[in-house]
Amino acid sequence: MRVSDSKIVAKLAELNVELQHSASLSDLTSLGIGGTTDLLRIKSHESLPDLLNLLDANHVPHKFLGGGSNLLVGDGDLPWVVLQLVRPEPDVVLDGNLAHVDAAADLGRMITFCAKNDLGGMEGLIGVPGTVGGALRMNAGAYGMQIGSYVREVKLYRAATRKIETLRGHQISFEYRHTSFAPDDMMLAVILELPSKPYKEILQGIRICNEKRRSSQPLGQKSAGCIFKNPPGVSAGRMIDELGLKSLSVGDAQVSDRHANFFVNAGHASAKDMLALIADVRERVQKSFGVNLENEVVVWNA
Ligand code: EPU
Repeated sequence: MRVSDSKIVAKLAELNVELQHSASLSDLTSLGIGGTTDLLRIKSHESLPDLLNLLDANHVPHKFLGGGSNLLVGDGDLPWVVLQLVRPEPDVVLDGNLAHVDAAADLGRMITFCAKNDLGGMEGLIGVPGTVGGALRMNAGAYGMQIGSYVREVKLYRAATRKIETLRGHQISFEYRHTSFAPDDMMLAVILELPSKPYKEILQGIRICNEKRRSSQPLGQKSAGCIFKNPPGVSAGRMIDELGLKSLSVGDAQVSDRHANFFVNAGHASAKDMLALIADVRERVQKSFGVNLENEVVVWNA
């Protein structure tokens, strides 16, 4: 979708929003899949209510993009524009055990920065790609840790009230890869309360988790992490593996030969290929195990 109305373009500049025409979502997602649309880069949180009013008044559909690491975007000319926060500098400010973090901060870099200042707790999440906002929205977790456990306060744009609001940690429910945020809420910033731990000790935990990850996940390849959620008590990856589906492919979309719940883009996969592979694997697991696998990856299909 192209924003071409000169009045809207002028207003965007006034709101300190950078307009990038025909951005390729394949460059902005870890899967390397996705069509093109206009990208609106937001430099100031405070401009969001006016920006959203402007887009809605002009019937411009939109979606919020975080780090693009858990996302499968449709092919071709996309029927909505994409909003993304510009990362400020600095993006993490420490105050005792509290870390004030911008949603656009890189999750791994934030964890490393806190670790260097003797604040731990999130060692298991170090290898999870994406932004802090994205991790927050879906309560990213790994190796028994999840970001939700450390949330003291969240600043967000709430589409329901059209305002920027602050929620305390206890007002938000964090479950397995799920939170009580509405799909159209936009994470802006978070205050995390982290336990004090010597850097050396945190580093040891990070090394162990990294080693586990390296030995079981296809880190060098284009993926969106796990495609399916684990149904209670079972591993989706193990079921897919047991069916002998590693390396199954549709075009360049392929079940990883390393971890069967990672689907990789082995070349120039399209969203159509990836969606067909997901549907095929889901059907086979349903037939053999009677389990309906739910997507973990977020799909923005046109
Ligand atoms: N397994 C297989 N074959 C495979 C993959 C896994 O037999 O191809 C077996 C493993 O040997 C292990 C069991 O299945 O005994 C579980 O595997 P793993 O420890 O890799 O964990 P997982 O359940 O597949 C979950 C998360 C990952 C997270 C890891 C580590 C989900 C859907 N997956 O994977 O998260 O990194 O635990 O905590 O919750 C993600 O969210 O994108 C993600 C990758």
